[in-house]
Amino acid sequence: MSLLRLEDVRKSFGVIEALRGVTFSVEPGSAVALVGDNGAGKSTLMKTITGVHTPDAGRIEFDGQSLVGMAPGAIRAAGIEMIYQDLALAKQRDVATNIFLGREITRNVLGLRLIDAKAMRAQAEAMIEKLGARVKSVTQIAGQLSGGQQQSVAIARALTFNPKLVIMDEPTAALAVREIEHVLDLIRTLKSRGIAVILISHRLTDVFAVCDRIVVLRQGAVIAEDPTSATSMKAVVAHIVGAAEETVKG
Ligand SMILES: Nc1ncnc2c1ncn2[C@@H]1O[C@H](COP(=O)(O)OP(=O)(O)OP(=O)(O)O)[C@@H](O)[C@H]1O
Ligand SMILES: [Mg+2]
Repeated sequence: MSLLRLEDVRKSFGVIEALRGVTFSVEPGSAVALVGDNGAGKSTLMKTITGVHTPDAGRIEFDGQSLVGMAPGAIRAAGIEMIYQDLALAKQRDVATNIFLGREITRNVLGLRLIDAKAMRAQAEAMIEKLGARVKSVTQIAGQLSGGQQQSVAIARALTFNPKLVIMDEPTAALAVREIEHVLDLIRTLKSRGIAVILISHRLTDVFAVCDRIVVLRQGAVIAEDPTSATSMKAVVAHIVGAAEETVKG
């Protein structure tokens, strides 16, 4: 059974039809790439899944329940984590604080609830270690980490919510080559732990490296959907820019 299933999802902003009936599904532990030109509707689709937008029509089912009309917090609690492109890290705070931001570990001292920095550091270290993230110390300030390390912290933070699905918006866009490899390894780690991933990316090399299926969105509609093994970069590019259909037509 699919973990996530969208059926004929529609969303308009005034006269702009951002999503014109999107249907696709994500299997547990698999990575699905969502690709498409600027303005194709990728971010709108993800925001509709995570409850930021309410669809005008269609069905969204996750882990056996309908997400339509649910608040973002409830959708998160159901097991969907979204890592936005800006990562939403507190750049002035250290790694451990970022990993537990908004869900700090506390302890009781004479009836007062105090933040347990030591416990947070220990747990953050364990998470970084388990994930194989290359962050040297959890006491480092997030803003001083490299882009790839910051992405690792965002992924570690997402994992504290025990998600079944992690959605990543352009996680490798601003990274150096070695850092890209590291983030791709982290995506492989998520999959090996049974966590599904939706990867939004303009970098097709990354998509082909880690994704099992590729969904191409154009002008708010799914124009192609193929297993990675059954398509090529050339074919995907042709779908993105809209050349494939013209070729078919002659
Ligand atoms: N809140 C909004 N209000 C009005 N129009 C919007 C809103 N959000 C998105 N749109 C429009 O919906 C369409 C799809 O935008 P979306 O941001 O989903 O594209 P995208 O595929 O994520 O593009 P990019 O690759 O540039 O991030 C665009 O025409 C955009 O202008
Ligand atoms: Mg976008």
